[in-house]
Amino acid sequence: MPDPTLPTHTNLFLAGNFAPIEQETTTFDLPIHGKVPDELEGRFLRIGPNPVKTPDPYSYHWFGGTGMVHGLRLRGGQAEWYRSRYVVDSHEAKALGRDPIPGPGAGDRDGIVNTNFMGVDGHTLALVEAGSLPVELDYELESIARSDFQGTLEAGFTAHPKLDPSFGIYRALTYEPNGPVRYLTVDQAGRVSTLARIDLPHSPLVHDVTFTATSIVVLDLPVTFQPQAAHTSFPWLWNEKQASRVGLLPLDGDLSKLQWFDAPRCFVFHFLNSYDDDERVIVDVVRHDRMFASNQQGVNEGKPVLARWTIDRRTKRLTESILEERGCEFPRINDAIGGQYYRFGYTAHWGENVQFGPSMKHDLERGITEVHDYGVGRIALEPIFVQRQNAAAEDDGWVLSYVYDSERNASDVVILDARDFSGNPVATINLPVRVPYGFHGCWVPDVAVGEVR
Ligand SMILES: [Fe+2]
Repeated sequence: MPDPTLPTHTNLFLAGNFAPIEQETTTFDLPIHGKVPDELEGRFLRIGPNPVKTPDPYSYHWFGGTGMVHGLRLRGGQAEWYRSRYVVDSHEAKALGRDPIPGPGAGDRDGIVNTNFMGVDGHTLALVEAGSLPVELDYELESIARSDFQGTLEAGFTAHPKLDPSFGIYRALTYEPNGPVRYLTVDQAGRVSTLARIDLPHSPLVHDVTFTATSIVVLDLPVTFQPQAAHTSFPWLWNEKQASRVGLLPLDGDLSKLQWFDAPRCFVFHFLNSYDDDERVIVDVVRHDRMFASNQQGVNEGKPVLARWTIDRRTKRLTESILEERGCEFPRINDAIGGQYYRFGYTAHWGENVQFGPSMKHDLERGITEVHDYGVGRIALEPIFVQRQNAAAEDDGWVLSYVYDSERNASDVVILDARDFSGNPVATINLPVRVPYGFHGCWVPDVAVGEVR
């Protein structure tokens, strides 16, 4: 029951463009300003929470809304269609009077799916973490079935598997209440191998993964499963008693060689990238000072910053430097260099009290940041880098974002030339509706459906 001494009428994560849209949309032949590159033939997908019915603002958590996927199909320089569809889960099916989707997990692993995508073996999966199974989507974004990777997944999955381009497999860390943190790989046929089960009885929130040529990086930070203290649907909270540490686990999952290093007291959802540098490991993170401490309804503990953690295996010490003081989140790179030395990162601005706006391109070699301001009242979230075919440089490609235009109360898809980041967009496509602030996206080229991050 809600605590009657606390306000129940406000929840930032239901206000403005966080508010859900009330219906699915299908529309064709969208207006374009500029020129969509011919090479961009495929779909630009985005996913986020979109509660089916107005939730109780006191107990609603941003992570707890039914998922909605958005997709823009580009071909031949045209924007052929835009669609939005609920990701069908058991609650959503009941609320909308729809048939539940088939597949494994009914009853215990069929919760909401609202966080990210994965493409493997020609299938596009919508993902969530902390126990539920992915939902496979068809080309036009309809939910088909739950997936447990042909029966090879032993528990829940994660929202952040990451393709290791050096090996052509995904690497992932999964977590759920009262279970170990599992280190998994997913091969190109979509079959899971569980390589390690890391016993962490305090059940930390482990959202993302990053890897180097030798190691998986495991975060054990002070946000832990505390259902007795939670007043929202997301029971992971700041834990004053828990220390911060970072683990380096060999890629083969040999737990006897897992090394832990003391880390700054903070919380990290996302990595930018990591790589080996002789005896050091460079780990670039978006660092929040705390999480789910003063605000249980969503991510709102001040501005996060881009930080570099240098882990020295010889001295067994971790040192931190700040790469970007301006608030930022949703870090992305050219995925072709995951786990390797790299120069460029892309983030969305995230200021105090969850103020979004421009996007940023970080040149980590030169220590400079370029900013793309989309204009007054125009607000971007995750910038997705799409590499040009036969790219001549790491940043030879485009940066795609869904951008909310508050004056139009609708969203655009904006395509930037990554090498002219602060210049005028290459193309802007007007959508007839807004895309609520959400989480992650991906570009799925038609020639390689499934090969997404
Ligand atoms: Fe994420």
